[in-house]
Formats: sequence, C-alpha cells, structure tokens
Amino acid sequence: MAFPSRRLIKALLSSPPGGQVTLAGWVRTLRASKGGFCFVAVNDGSCQASIQVVADQALPNYDAEVSRLTPGCSVLVVGELAASQGKGQTVEVKAASVTVLGKSDETFPIQPKKHTLEFLREVAHLRARTNLFGAVARVRNEVCRAVHEFFQSESFLYVHTPVITASDCEGAGQMFRVSTLDASEPPRTPEGKVDFGQDFFSRQAYLTVSGQLEGETYACAMGRIYTFGPTFRAENSNTPRHLSEFWMIEPELAFADLSDDADLAERFLKSVFKSVLERCPDDLTFLSERNDPTLVETLRGIVESPFVRITYTEAVDLLEKSGKKWEFPVSWGVDLQTEHERWLTEEKFRKPVVVTDYPAKIKAFYMRLNDGAAPERPTVAAMDVLVPKIGELIGGSQREERLEVLESRIRAQGMDPKDYWWYLDLRRYGTVPHAGFGLGLERTVQFVTGMSNIRDVIPYPRVPRSADF
Ligand code: 4AD
Ligand code: MG
Repeated sequence: MAFPSRRLIKALLSSPPGGQVTLAGWVRTLRASKGGFCFVAVNDGSCQASIQVVADQALPNYDAEVSRLTPGCSVLVVGELAASQGKGQTVEVKAASVTVLGKSDETFPIQPKKHTLEFLREVAHLRARTNLFGAVARVRNEVCRAVHEFFQSESFLYVHTPVITASDCEGAGQMFRVSTLDASEPPRTPEGKVDFGQDFFSRQAYLTVSGQLEGETYACAMGRIYTFGPTFRAENSNTPRHLSEFWMIEPELAFADLSDDADLAERFLKSVFKSVLERCPDDLTFLSERNDPTLVETLRGIVESPFVRITYTEAVDLLEKSGKKWEFPVSWGVDLQTEHERWLTEEKFRKPVVVTDYPAKIKAFYMRLNDGAAPERPTVAAMDVLVPKIGELIGGSQREERLEVLESRIRAQGMDPKDYWWYLDLRRYGTVPHAGFGLGLERTVQFVTGMSNIRDVIPYPRVPRSADF
C-alpha cells in the first residue's frame, strides 16, 4: 500500500477548509456521540495537535471497526477538510472512509490518562506517542537543525571525529573499553597482564569522551570547524543531568582566544534558543504549561540580554560571601558544584553566567596556562557557561599552544607525552592560538523544554546499571 496523497496533520491544521484530503496516524482518543457518529483524535507526530476526524455511522465498517477504535490503533482516513464547529480547532475531517491499518487494545500502555515519567521510561519504545515526548522529540530536532544552521552560516566546517579512539581527551579515565578479546579468558603477556596487542586494534581502544583533540587537528588546517556526535562517559554519576552516552557539539576556532570563544558560545546559544522560540511555538506552549510557566519568558530573556562574565576567583568570592550553607563548602581551588553554579545563575545574576579562568589543578591538561596569574594560584584560560536549573551547559577553553608548556602539563597529570605525539605535532608545526568548547545536547534540550530529568530528553537513555532497548 502506497500513500502518495497522504498529507501531514501539521499542514492540514493550517490549511483553509475545503477539498478532499488523506491522512494517516495513530488514534489518541475516541468519543462516541449520540447522533450516530464519533470523534476520533488522530496524531501523526508532525505537530503537537491531533486532528479531529468525524466518522458517521453510515461508513460501511462503522459498527465493526470504527466505533471500536482504541488508543494506539493506526488508521488511514480519506475525507473532506471542513470548518470545525468544535472548540480548539478550526478544521476537522469528515471521513468518507476510515481504514484500520493496525489494531490496538486495552493492553496498549499509553492510555489517555496521566502517566508518570518513571513508568514512561519503562515503555520508552512507545513514549514518543504521548504529547509530552512528541514535543520533546520535535524540540530536540529543532535544536539540532539550529546547531547546523548556526555553524554553517558562520562558515564552520562540519567534521566527523572518530567514535573509537585510543586517547583520553579529558584525562579523567572515564572511558568504556572497546575490545573483541574473550573477557573470560583473555590472552596474557609473559608477565601475566592482558595482552591487548592481540586485541582487534592491536592496542587498547575506547569509546570517545570528546571529539576535541581530533577536532583541533582540523581547526589547525581549516580554521573553524565543529563536530556533532555521540560521546561516552563511564562515570558513575546518577544525577538528573548525567548520561553515560550523550551527544556533544564541539566547535574549534583557530586564531582565537578565550574571549573570542566566550563570544562564540553566547552568539551560538542565543541563535539556537531563538530558532526554537520561532519554530516550535506550540510545543513550547505545551511544555511551559506542563513543566514551567516561565519557560518561554526565560528563553526570550536569554536571547535578548548579554550574558554575565566573571572569573572563577570572583565567583568563589561571591559564593563565600553569599551567606548560604553549602553542602560542598567553597574555597579557592575547589571545583564548583551544581549547587554553586545554580546559585550564581538562578539567584545572584538570574541569567546565563560565563565563569572563566579556573585553577589549573582542577581542569584538563590541554587548557592554556594563564600568563598573568599569581604563581601560587596558577589558572587556565577555561570557561564554563552556566544556566538556571542545569548549571554547566558548556565547558571550553583556549588551548595550550606552547609545546613545552603542554608537554609539562601532560606529565604533571601523570600521562605520557608520547601518547599525545600527534596532538603535540600541532604545536611543532605552525602552532596558533586556538580555542573551542563543548555543548551537551541533552542538557540543552533539557533547558529549553524544562524537563527535569535528562533521561527524558534522549530516546533511549544509557546510565549506570541501565541500557534497556
Ligand atoms: O566540560 P566537558 O567535559 O568538556 C569537554 O569534553 C571538552 N572536550 C569540550 C571542548 O572544549 N571541546 O563537556 C562539555 C559539555 C558539558 O558542559 C555538559 O553540557 C556536557 O558536555 N556533558 C554531559 N552531558 C550529559 N551527561 C554527561 N555525563 C556529560 N558530561 C558532560
Ligand atoms: Mg566541564
């Protein structure tokens, strides 16, 4: 069966009444009316709203099929697009035929009632059929579209960095091993260690935690690049903001310093939020009613006003003087926790905050050591962009472009410069100041949808002790 004349419900709902149309989708609800007809709400995922189909008992399959439709059934409807008398829609379809493509029954888990998010995670394969997950999926799509549009419009080149890698970009040792060795009886070296020389890649290999290092090699040839791909972290964090598999967008610019990087991050976020505001108004209205009545206003405010920029040292000073009782005490040198980040952006400034120049000790080896810092308090040209409710949305830095400094930073973190020979080559051959950042896609979708748990903004979340579906 081909469906050449099928129209999307999104298009039908914005069309003037008149003419015969064909649509297909899944039944959300069925309401029988006394006068010998019923109303069937059909949704095809193209937009938040379902279309109302009016089915009359004169239809040949009315008693046997149409009046018995249940939530989850799939149907093909041909009929007239007519002006609607009912509330909430301007057009409806007066069915000339309703073909039942696929039946459903009362065991269908997504019945028209309120389900908890926990329950919906257990039926993640069907949750996109709810209004909520449909809205999240469309907003996620729009964020991705807007990411590409922004970078393409600024002449950034889209680069694909490898998913399987041998280098630990963040140096945090949170990598998933990729191996085809027999885990129960791996080959051994004479010293009794696992012999990875006999593994698939003849060496140890992992799933990447970031495409940055490889991204830098292309930035140092093509000028401005971005990556957009899945990244993996074997970090045992069970929080509403951490996934073991998430998508990251990582731009990298040659001939740029930290302030250029922060400017780019601000322009980029504003452009993405603006696109979502412009292109997903119905989904945002639905999400703000469900999740957070200030959602749209917050996004508009962010698009229209400049971000705050402060140094880590200033941030710590504010946190110390805040009079708050922190679960994690603050002092110069400690990493900022989500409670600190949220206070800065939700209470102190009430807008996105870019925190720069963190202590070298708590940041990755590739970040550029600041020249002017006090010798007893070395800092790096790092930046985190913090937003309300989420905390860190972006992490980035200017990169260390001086060979000797970089080598000594690698050693200081207990790693071997030899493992980073190709990365160091960028500093041997035509080194240039350059900078970049990483934006977590799911945290961004969480922020723009107001969803409280990151597991509900990716179709199939992977977290410690769970990789269902
Ligand atoms: O701050 P991170 O670890 O930075 C990097 O990976 C750099 N290599 C980026 C760069 O400079 N090119 O991660 C960047 C962002 C975070 O700010 C956060 O939004 C997201 O990635 N992120 C996570 N999102 C979900 N689950 C996790 N476990 C995440 N870890 C980081
Ligand atoms: Mg970070």
